[in-house]
Amino acid sequence: MKNTLHANNLKPPLKWAGGKRWLVPHLKPIWEQYSQRRLVEPLCGGLAVTLGLMPEKALLNDVNTHLINFFQWVQKGLYIDIPLENNEEFYYSHRERFNVLIEEGNMNSKEAAELFYYLNRTGFNGLCRFNQKDRFNVPFGRYKKINYIRNYEQYMEVFKRWEFTCNDFEELSIKDNDFIYADPPYDVEFTSYSKGGFTWKDQVRLVRWLVGHPGPIVLSNQATERIVELYGEYGFNIKYYDAPRRISCNGDRTPAQEVLATRGI
Ligand SMILES: C[S@@+](CC[C@H](N)C(=O)[O-])C[C@H]1O[C@@H](n2cnc3c(N)ncnc32)[C@H](O)[C@@H]1O
Repeated sequence: MKNTLHANNLKPPLKWAGGKRWLVPHLKPIWEQYSQRRLVEPLCGGLAVTLGLMPEKALLNDVNTHLINFFQWVQKGLYIDIPLENNEEFYYSHRERFNVLIEEGNMNSKEAAELFYYLNRTGFNGLCRFNQKDRFNVPFGRYKKINYIRNYEQYMEVFKRWEFTCNDFEELSIKDNDFIYADPPYDVEFTSYSKGGFTWKDQVRLVRWLVGHPGPIVLSNQATERIVELYGEYGFNIKYYDAPRRISCNGDRTPAQEVLATRGI
């Protein structure tokens, strides 16, 4: 494929709830018909899909500022200098330092990006959760072994072709021939990505925003009754898949049915 990068299978560097690496083999045949286009992920999360599809051009957006700050530092060529140890005491002292940076308004610093990576890989289930006072409050993860990555040179080579933004999806400026893959938080109670969560109103707002786009759209979600009904109502074609497992706050990894909805394809 002329317009596809072949970086040797870069894995998503973070753990991210709702990661769709398992969906990539199903998305690839669809994407390959459009791979000359720009891939837009309005809710990009941990980048499992973009890293799986390896587009030449991409616009990657997420409302989570820490996540996008980390990607933007990777794009500049990140080398992690802070000590990385899978140790409880260490974890809580790094967590405290991360919260100090937030309080000081230094969330966009290199140190914040490094700490975010460390906390994501070392904390419980890769969760990203904050208390009412905006303090990161995920407990230590108790993993047996963690393979931390310090050098992001390989990622930088790929990321420098892509654009990263941190906004609500509706703020994005999309071009008519962009290929959009949208993966909103599941239609469930569990919301731990960002302040305010993702309500039913947001699910509807997302679909309404998407259908204003004349180009190809792929949308995934959990196959709840109202999601299937909503996507059908807005003219999406729906296919069902069994998700292999999910990260959830209580560690429940039971499979769930998912929908892959397409429009203009
Ligand atoms: C299911 S995750 C995406 C996972 C991603 N596809 C992957 O494979 O890693 C949904 C993402 O939507 C983001 N999000 C939630 N509300 C948003 C909003 N209003 N605008 C943009 N992104 C939002 C969350 O921060 C989260 O990263």
